[in-house]
Amino acid sequence: MIIAIDGPAASGKGTLARRLATHFGLRHLDTGLTYRAVAAALLAKGLPLGDEAVALDIARNLDLAQMDKTVLSSHEIGEAASRIAVLGGLRSELVRIQRGFAETPPGAVLDGRDIGTVVCPKADVKMFVTASAEARALRRTDEMISKGNAADYASVLDDLKRRDERDSQRTVAPLRKADDAHLLDTTEMDIESAFKAAVDIVERAMHS
Ligand code: CDP
Repeated sequence: MIIAIDGPAASGKGTLARRLATHFGLRHLDTGLTYRAVAAALLAKGLPLGDEAVALDIARNLDLAQMDKTVLSSHEIGEAASRIAVLGGLRSELVRIQRGFAETPPGAVLDGRDIGTVVCPKADVKMFVTASAEARALRRTDEMISKGNAADYASVLDDLKRRDERDSQRTVAPLRKADDAHLLDTTEMDIESAFKAAVDIVERAMHS
């Protein structure tokens, strides 16, 4: 059983993916963390983000169990992740690792930008989770403030739009809804109703 969840930054796909995994007894991989982990290692070594050979080397030695969401969640790392995410060779290596995770029994929920289109095109269920840029910026701002960080709504909104643009326009595996993905627009939903809607989509797909 593989559930593929894609969507833009701060759409709530991560929270949905984690809760769906718990609900259906599956493992969960936030694939954004794999890009973030490689970006963080490059930043820590002071190496240029465009150095694909070094990025590939870091990716080959990536240990999924060691990725720490708290450490990798910084804005700077997210920005760097979206810059290295345009590198085709690096993506191939990370996709290989992500597929290995997805195909290990009993299956998994993967969330990212290209799960339904590239990583798991044969997933049992695909969802494209979205929300207006304003709703997403508000959620991201609240999330940063609740963690005790400073956050300015206007600059968070600008950053999200810039990252969406870069993710959607890149030539390799751009952010896009797979034709057979269910669209879940959470602009007017809280996390509880979004979760119920997502469970409903999975259950209907399982019984069809
Ligand atoms: O949580 P948030 O949406 O802010 O970002 P993320 O999911 O951690 O992803 C960070 C960056 O990694 C994205 O902006 C994408 O450029 C890249 N990414 C990707 O290209 N493909 C994926 N499957 C996941 C992330």
